[in-house]
Amino acid sequence: ARPWRGVIDEYRDWLPVVGDTPAVSLGEGGTPLVRSGWLSELTGSDVRLKVEGSNPTGSFKDRGMTAAITVAAAEGAEAVVCASTGNTSASMAAYAARAGLRPIVLVPQGKIAAGKMAQALMFDSLVVQVRGNFDDCLDIARGLADEYPVALVNSVNPVRLQGQKTGAFEVVDVLGDAPDVHVMPVGNAGNISAYWLGYREYAEAGLATRTPRMWGFQAEGAAPLVSGSPVPDPETVASAIRIGNPASWHLAVEARDTSGGRIGAVSDLEILDAQRALARHDGVFVEPASAAGVAGLVKAHAAGEVPSGATIAVVVTGNGLKDIDTPLRHLGAIAENVVDADVRKAAELAGLA
Ligand code: F0G
Repeated sequence: ARPWRGVIDEYRDWLPVVGDTPAVSLGEGGTPLVRSGWLSELTGSDVRLKVEGSNPTGSFKDRGMTAAITVAAAEGAEAVVCASTGNTSASMAAYAARAGLRPIVLVPQGKIAAGKMAQALMFDSLVVQVRGNFDDCLDIARGLADEYPVALVNSVNPVRLQGQKTGAFEVVDVLGDAPDVHVMPVGNAGNISAYWLGYREYAEAGLATRTPRMWGFQAEGAAPLVSGSPVPDPETVASAIRIGNPASWHLAVEARDTSGGRIGAVSDLEILDAQRALARHDGVFVEPASAAGVAGLVKAHAAGEVPSGATIAVVVTGNGLKDIDTPLRHLGAIAENVVDADVRKAAELAGLA
């Protein structure tokens, strides 16, 4: 076995990185595709989790960011900007630090998880908190990139989607073909567009015999792709996908329709239940937004809509440690289980004695 080289050097021929431009990489990609015993038993299908929280900054954004920052650095950029619900900014800041670029981050004030804020600050970005939501932040980021010498690395930058499509390549490389169904959360709709691009490219090159049905899930309070019109005040516990007007709207609709897929909505309660079930049954701790796809699969199964005997890939997009406030709030008190330093008392408390 040779060491994993990061997504650019693993898939360079498929990416818009010219010649021998050195990759700005943290060794991203090559993430585990683990079987979910729980979801496989529930659905009667073979359900695999693509655990993107194992990436260097803890989310799938690193795939797109290694590409975007490599290209921006090669083109001579000195500063980079993004709007973010927290993961894009954490990733951009890390790769910018590595490339010696100045990271400028726009986030909705008070609405990003603490772990993500810590990452942006640790990587020394300028964090601008905007009185508004993600969609307002993205408008400002576009405006800054239009008028000032700063490169925009949101997923409206096509290089981002190119990097992120490597997730689909890896799924096919491991399974030996595309899955029947591909499930994922949807926010700004870049990732579903990227995966669809990757699956199509592999099928066109003969590396897969088919493309999967693309199943995306949004949070009920932030589900413009389900209702068909932008949501002015999106709200959900899954702060990463609290987005009312996705930038890649049309690409996502195309992925849904040409794949014979669907984009559905799940409630915050369904998201939190799925997050907890995934942790308890499979040992995989994801952030709330990442559980939206799992919640969607469970809901579709309850409605009798999940085929049995299928192969189903579910992307879980971000690490649970990104946002610890939400589970701590919902899982209740750990403060009550306090004992003196005594074996017997610990045993009693643990139900062993
Ligand atoms: N899951 C997580 C953990 C995310 O951080 C995001 C998006 C998504 C899913 C949805 O992906 O936007 O491509 O449809 N986070 C962006 C950010 C918006 O700023 O970190 P998408």
